[in-house]
Amino acid sequence: MSDKPVIGVVGVGYVGLTTGACLSHLGYTVVCGDVDEEKINRLRKGEISIVEKGLTEIVNEGITAGRLEFVVGATEVGERSDIVFLCVPTPEDRDGSADLSFIEAASAEIGPVLCEGAIVVNKSTVPVGTTIVVDEVIQRADIKVVSNPEFLREGTAVNDFLHPDRVVVGADDRGAAEKVAELYSSIETEIIITDAS
Ligand SMILES: NC(=O)c1ccc[n+]([C@@H]2O[C@H](COP(=O)([O-])OP(=O)(O)OC[C@H]3O[C@@H](n4cnc5c(N)ncnc54)[C@H](O)[C@@H]3O)[C@@H](O)[C@H]2O)c1
Repeated sequence: MSDKPVIGVVGVGYVGLTTGACLSHLGYTVVCGDVDEEKINRLRKGEISIVEKGLTEIVNEGITAGRLEFVVGATEVGERSDIVFLCVPTPEDRDGSADLSFIEAASAEIGPVLCEGAIVVNKSTVPVGTTIVVDEVIQRADIKVVSNPEFLREGTAVNDFLHPDRVVVGADDRGAAEKVAELYSSIETEIIITDAS
């Protein structure tokens, strides 16, 4: 991994677009992928369908600077990134538990193509222990899975991402957790590193 990792984002909704645009604003090169081709085509032109204060500006800033790119699907994100954030939906199942099928599908797509030693980050809202689910789908000893839950609120997403009360990063691999925590080092906040369970 070079000094500044290339960031990947899978799922460019509220959380993914905010994460990608904000990390690009912090100086990282970010590749964002989504299965919704129409959404990607609009985003490439800087057109955003959600209303979030400041988001249009930082998306366009990233595109103009060549640090923020949008691609269709997750494969290219996996191929090009050192740290990949999974920001796909986790709707409630009929029994009230989180439906992890989007997480599993995205993990299955990127698993075979991830760069050697890449880190996969769960940013979706998932139950404790979901790093194991991702790990079992990817089945690669060189890939570490980290949990970094997002607490942003719709409407104030950019501000919540750039000025959070705290950032929580959990992983069984301390080195991988520290690499993810490092992404937030220019933000003034408390960073809590824990194990994944
Ligand atoms: N919206 C919020 O306020 C908020 C806040 C905190 C956490 N979360 C959590 O973050 C996660 C994402 O939420 P969101 O609101 O951003 O969802 P969203 O529905 O706005 O966006 C999810 C995106 O993922 C894409 N997607 C689905 N499967 C994909 C795949 N295999 N490959 C590529 N793209 C794929 C969808 O097309 C969609 O654009 C959920 O777990 C949610 O609970 C949401």
